[in-house]
Amino acid sequence: MKISVAWILALLASFHNCAGVYLDVNNTASIYNATALVAEGLLDYYTGLQYGQPIGMFSNPYYWWEAGGAWGSILDYWWYTGNDTFNGILKQALLAQTGENNDYVPLNQSVTEGNDDQAFWGLVVMAAAERNFENPSSDEPQWLYLAQAVFNTMALRWDDDTCGGGLRWQIFTWNSGYDYKNTVANGALFHIAARLARYTGNQSYVDWAEKVFDWMKGINLLTENTGGNNFVYDGAKVEGNCSNITRLVWTYNQGLLMSGSAYLYNMTEDEKWHTRTWEFLNSSNIFFNNSVLYEVTCQAGKTCNTDQRSFKAYYSRFLGLTAQLVPAAREKIMDWIRTSAQGAAQSCSGGYDGHTCGQNWFYGGWDGFYGLGEQMAALEIMQNVLCLQKPAPYTAKDGGTSIGNGAAGTETQASNLSPLTITAGSRAAAGIITAVIGLSIVACTVWLVV
Ligand SMILES: *[C@@H]1O[C@H](CO)[C@@H](O)[C@H](O)[C@H]1NC(C)=O
Ligand SMILES: *[C@@H]1O[C@H](CO)[C@@H](O)[C@H](O)[C@H]1NC(C)=O
Ligand SMILES: *[C@@H]1O[C@H](CO)[C@@H](O)[C@H](O)[C@H]1NC(C)=O
Ligand SMILES: *[C@@H]1O[C@H](CO)[C@@H](O)[C@H](O)[C@H]1NC(C)=O
Ligand SMILES: *[C@@H]1O[C@H](CO)[C@@H](O)[C@H](O)[C@H]1NC(C)=O
Ligand SMILES: *[C@@H]1O[C@H](CO)[C@@H](O)[C@H](O)[C@H]1NC(C)=O
Ligand SMILES: *[C@@H]1O[C@H](CO)[C@@H](O)[C@H](O)[C@H]1NC(C)=O
Ligand SMILES: *[C@@H]1O[C@H](CO)[C@@H](O)[C@H](O)[C@H]1NC(C)=O
Ligand SMILES: *[C@@H]1O[C@H](CO)[C@@H](O)[C@H](O)[C@H]1NC(C)=O
Ligand SMILES: *[C@@H]1O[C@H](CO)[C@@H](O)[C@H](O)[C@H]1NC(C)=O
Repeated sequence: MKISVAWILALLASFHNCAGVYLDVNNTASIYNATALVAEGLLDYYTGLQYGQPIGMFSNPYYWWEAGGAWGSILDYWWYTGNDTFNGILKQALLAQTGENNDYVPLNQSVTEGNDDQAFWGLVVMAAAERNFENPSSDEPQWLYLAQAVFNTMALRWDDDTCGGGLRWQIFTWNSGYDYKNTVANGALFHIAARLARYTGNQSYVDWAEKVFDWMKGINLLTENTGGNNFVYDGAKVEGNCSNITRLVWTYNQGLLMSGSAYLYNMTEDEKWHTRTWEFLNSSNIFFNNSVLYEVTCQAGKTCNTDQRSFKAYYSRFLGLTAQLVPAAREKIMDWIRTSAQGAAQSCSGGYDGHTCGQNWFYGGWDGFYGLGEQMAALEIMQNVLCLQKPAPYTAKDGGTSIGNGAAGTETQASNLSPLTITAGSRAAAGIITAVIGLSIVACTVWLVV
């Protein structure tokens, strides 16, 4: 038997997978296999099943909002692959964190919770309604109801007193960021309104989406230039009437606006929303390097913080939704998704399990970064390769069975809540994980050299 170089490499990879997760984007079975490994890696950060740990929360340092984001990735994992292994813990988590008023402002998060934090839990329950995820029992709040409660409580915070409207970043005056009106809060309100509009067919939500979009455009958070670009900037301080725009761009903001426009186009068939979807799609070019997705504002400088390292996950999810809803955009989007997924897969060669994913998808192997955000982002881009094999989001008319209530969440006022103290978590475990992963990099390098 002739021993080839490829054979030796395959043997080495079977001992320690230094080549990343095997992925053939044209082979569905290969995508199932690859995403199963990455999804398992994601759930390694879930501590809610451990004794005394809160259901629905991930380990330190991942904040409550990112848990909402991660459950959205797990929901899509089930939807795109049909693998329901995690459905039980997903449903349990979504229902554990609804809070006392069933609006995702739980008392024990109110110290720090912002509009965007609430919105990311709103996104996952909205998706649960649209994917017809198993409904909660009748004595529990329903997915659509929860999404409407998130929308209604956010809309109630609309602030006409400064900047001609808009949501502040923070809900509570004691939090820093209360003086900032930003895109993630307003873009998420726009996005959820667009999805509720399409799901329910209720025109009020279209009107709200228009109002939020026009306001964002009015203060120049969204700028159009002659090249058809439509950049989405970070936000503006209330001081100075929102005239001083923070010109930072993030994938997740771009995606909120792009896919929200796609929902509105798909529902209304208004050409205006088709054009806007395309403007956000075209200006997304700045987030791609040879069709591989990256977080342009922080990735090259290796300065992405814990939150920012998960942004590509939401953008990937929003790309898939946009492809489902706007047929003309499919070719361009699928090229990006396939190329990026291939890059992400080859970055997933780190850690003691050999399939921990990195941050930089064109690095050529694992770049040494790891975390919940990296794992989510890789999972989302890989599972969204399957987006056109599955139905577009359902509506109440064609497959969605979740029951809602247009007045959800308006019975109580969030301002009644009182702040509690936050408890600090242990850092020791994180130290041990870092050490193990450090060893693993060395081991992987040794294998390659051998
Ligand atoms: C996947 O299929 C497309 C055409 O559908 C082709 O262009 C591409 O090269 C294929 N990719 C791989 C990795 O085989
Ligand atoms: C997927 O994994 C199964 C079980 O390990 C294996 O039999 C199959 O060959 C894999 N398929 C692909 C396409 O990698
Ligand atoms: C379903 O997902 C779990 C967890 O990722 C994995 O262990 C299992 O092999 C998957 N099942 C199939 C049929 O792919
Ligand atoms: C917050 O309270 C909810 C009950 O409303 C509980 O399920 C959850 O575990 C608590 N979360 C934390 C972080 O303590
Ligand atoms: C503040 O900005 C809003 C929106 O651009 C504008 O309508 C309003 O007139 C401005 N107010 C002042 C005092 O400049
Ligand atoms: C988007 O880019 C394509 C190709 O570059 C171009 O044909 C199209 O007009 C652009 N669309 C918008 C709305 O800018
Ligand atoms: C705009 O905001 C930036 C950053 O907060 C600050 O450095 C700058 O001085 C502000 N410019 C004006 C004109 O207020
Ligand atoms: C784009 O990727 C290549 C590797 O494929 C890399 O050399 C280059 O630095 C990247 N560009 C940016 C802007 O990161
Ligand atoms: C809306 O999405 C559906 C499902 O993908 C698609 O069949 C339909 O053509 C879309 N509608 C428009 C107006 O593009
Ligand atoms: C439509 O939505 C609005 C805003 O949430 C709500 O007030 C109204 O009752 C809804 N209408 C119907 C017919 O459900």
